[in-house]
Amino acid sequence: MVNDMIKVMQAHASVRNFTTEKIPEEILKVMIEAGRAASTWKNFQSYSIINVHTVETKDKIFELQPQKSIKNASNFLVFVGDLNRAEKATKLHTDQFYPEGTENLLISSVDASLAAQNTLLAAESLGYGGVFVGLIRDQAAELSALLNLPDYTYPLFGLALGIPARQNAVKPRLPYEAVVFDERYQEQTSQVIQDYDQMQADFAGERRLTSTWSERIAAQFGAPSQTVTLANLQDKGLMS
Ligand SMILES: Cc1cc2nc3c(=O)[nH]c(=O)nc-3n(C[C@H](O)[C@H](O)[C@H](O)COP(=O)(O)O)c2cc1C
Repeated sequence: MVNDMIKVMQAHASVRNFTTEKIPEEILKVMIEAGRAASTWKNFQSYSIINVHTVETKDKIFELQPQKSIKNASNFLVFVGDLNRAEKATKLHTDQFYPEGTENLLISSVDASLAAQNTLLAAESLGYGGVFVGLIRDQAAELSALLNLPDYTYPLFGLALGIPARQNAVKPRLPYEAVVFDERYQEQTSQVIQDYDQMQADFAGERRLTSTWSERIAAQFGAPSQTVTLANLQDKGLMS
């Protein structure tokens, strides 16, 4: 059974090329409010959203992280994990405040991600498009300074939104059985990986990618991760 909502979800493909047309302000607000309706840990709403829409600020972010979707977007929403309001709430009741650590990071990151995905879905349901830009974390400190991010906050990812200039094809996911298990976890063989490499290569077709899916994973996880994110979290009082 497929309804209109599921059709929108199934049609998702990231959009990186936008027309110069702007998303009307009141429509953007509807989309973000739909995003903010997402579930959130204990209703803490541990995130903030910076709506970047001026050419000047978009260009400054593009200089830090040169992805054209940032420059060309109607709006570049920066999703910020945020325990700054939590500090103020906590201090109403106690002088103790412990924002550091992995669990708190998960709370704010998951909250922000659910709101962001809901926002993108709302945009897509109205015919707009967008793409997440997580690589802004490579310039976390510079971006935090640009956006005036205070203590206990950190940039998680951006969401470039606009009117699609080109619609990409829906990217095939891993087979259902390789991801969704019945009752117990089922470790996968490397054959599953190689089969998906082939599926991705077939999907890419003529615009053949320079690397396979598993090679891109190896590039990420076969080397130590960047240290910028941790340094920024430490600077903001969220990791010790
Ligand atoms: C947290 C997150 C960060 C992402 N960062 C980037 C990015 O920096 N640049 C980019 O072009 N795409 C980025 N993407 C988009 C993914 O590459 C894309 O969702 C994935 O390849 C699947 O393609 P699809 O969205 O078209 O189905 C990001 C996606 C997520 C969820």
